[in-house]
Amino acid sequence: MNTESKKQRIFDRKNVFWWSQASLKKRLSHVLGYALDEYSITTQDLESNASFVKHVHHHRLTHLQTGVTLDIVEKSIRKLLGISSLESRFHREGDVLADSTHFRHPQCLGVIETPWESFIFTRFVRGKAPRMGKIATQIGQGIAEIENLSNLHLQPKNWLQRYRFWEMDFFRPWYLLRWRFNFVRYLPSLSELPADDARFHGLKERLLSLQPELNLAKARAFNSQRCFCHMDYLAKNFFSSREGFQMIDWSEVKVGRIGFDGGAYLSAIFRQEDMARFMKIRMYFLRSYLAALDERFDAQSALHNMDYFFLQNALWHFLRPKTIADYQQRGKLDLLHEKYEYLLALPSMAKG
Ligand SMILES: Nc1ncnc2c1ncn2[C@@H]1O[C@H](COP(=O)(O)OP(=O)(O)O)[C@@H](O)[C@H]1O
Ligand SMILES: [Mg+2]
Repeated sequence: MNTESKKQRIFDRKNVFWWSQASLKKRLSHVLGYALDEYSITTQDLESNASFVKHVHHHRLTHLQTGVTLDIVEKSIRKLLGISSLESRFHREGDVLADSTHFRHPQCLGVIETPWESFIFTRFVRGKAPRMGKIATQIGQGIAEIENLSNLHLQPKNWLQRYRFWEMDFFRPWYLLRWRFNFVRYLPSLSELPADDARFHGLKERLLSLQPELNLAKARAFNSQRCFCHMDYLAKNFFSSREGFQMIDWSEVKVGRIGFDGGAYLSAIFRQEDMARFMKIRMYFLRSYLAALDERFDAQSALHNMDYFFLQNALWHFLRPKTIADYQQRGKLDLLHEKYEYLLALPSMAKG
């Protein structure tokens, strides 16, 4: 079978009812393209916590005669009203990132759609979760590369492709209406802070004044250059391996804008580290990202988008009642105060 027809077969878009009844062996044999009569299969559960993910399984296929093994991951994602997940759509776009040199992406063997779920099959990879703050330089290069390769892919060649990319766009209302993108809804949780602590007086009003700045940044971002954005820069989505950093889990993917992933990475670091460490990591990240950014892209606009995404994510996290309660319990209100002040100063930094 030639490559094109193989691709056609395993990335078939049709929701096939009978795939939901088919045995695991049938599904695996379909994506691999050969019969598995001579193989035994053992399955282990892998830990997953995304709400739409039904299960993540590690299958080991062992050839009965030779003992040769093959390790495959199967991720099953529930569908809402028969609409397939962004993760499976992303994989169906093909090997967009196959030429990557900074991050490695375990090969996707195929996607099977049923009316109720998508099954995504990828190669199992091994390695250790890296310390995300320690690899800021590599992350900068890796993100610049994803932006470069995927921006080339996202130049629509026909109306069908244009529609597909439009559906996956970050700026569709069905993504933007999520609570986390509307920090104003969380402002009432500030009343949990000690009333006699003068550092937090007037904080609500000051934070509210960020809203017009954010709206402006959003409008500006909308018209900037597009790329696939991974958006989930947590250690458990990376493996440090002999072949380099393996990146997995595209469950948050969107057609975003250059700079968004940098904002996602930095906001994860901002959550985990104190201010001094954060500033240092940010510097290393920016240095490497800007050096690696393709010259087709406007660096200023990437930086603006990064701040927009960072601010959006960080405001959501630091205004959640859970975060505020956690900082109070750990006696870390000094740090919480520093973080609010940093966020409040961010829009003026971006303008400068
Ligand atoms: N290709 C893979 N190789 C090895 N382990 C994997 C692979 N894909 C997923 N895993 C393991 O399964 C876990 C859950 O998968 P992930 O795609 O991150 O799902 P979720 O969206 O629920 O976070 C990961 O944290 C990782 O430990
Ligand atoms: Mg994950």
